[in-house]
Amino acid sequence: MKTARLVLAGALLASGYALYAKPAPRPTAPTGKELVTARQAGMDMAAATMILLKNASKSGAPLKTLVFPASGLAKWADVAPALFSENTKGLPSKAKPNVWTDRAGFQAKATDFAKATKALAAAAAAEDKVAFDAALASTGMSCKGCHDTYQVPPAAAKPG
Ligand code: HEC
Repeated sequence: MKTARLVLAGALLASGYALYAKPAPRPTAPTGKELVTARQAGMDMAAATMILLKNASKSGAPLKTLVFPASGLAKWADVAPALFSENTKGLPSKAKPNVWTDRAGFQAKATDFAKATKALAAAAAAEDKVAFDAALASTGMSCKGCHDTYQVPPAAAKPG
């Protein structure tokens, strides 16, 4: 009896599964809108990481403890340009149209950023304070170097 009931329950479950199971959704590529949000979020986190690194360096934290955030920034620098893909062109964002019309120039700024952040991570691993602070400054310059040309400037602060 017990076996029969188990078989019946199994059969019901199986048929229920057959009736209601939907085919697993196919993995889809992220939408343009999702890519815009992803790159803005990455940029926000890059800014937060820069604040963390500057404060930690100022307070004399052991540089080895900064390898993780510095390496994360270097990973971000390598992929950030890919998030400015063709399917995000023309979507609302702070990226200027020249990101797409002057791709080589944009990529060159991204390469400056990637180099500076790699030097940053290496200096942290080597516990080299002088090299770390220099790389932190050049990383900051690389952010600004790209924004000056390729990012819509923030709205001017209200006078007074
Ligand atoms: C190669 C060019 C480039 C580099 C390098 C770069 N950015 Fe950006 N950044 C942009 C562009 C373009 C936008 C506008 C993106 C958008 O609105 O989709 C942006 C947007 C931002 C934003 C606003 C994001 C938002 O929420 O709207 C912040 C904050 C930011 N960047 C910080 C940084 C920091 C900090 C660095 C360096 C550690 C950096 N960026 C390096 C090109 C760059």
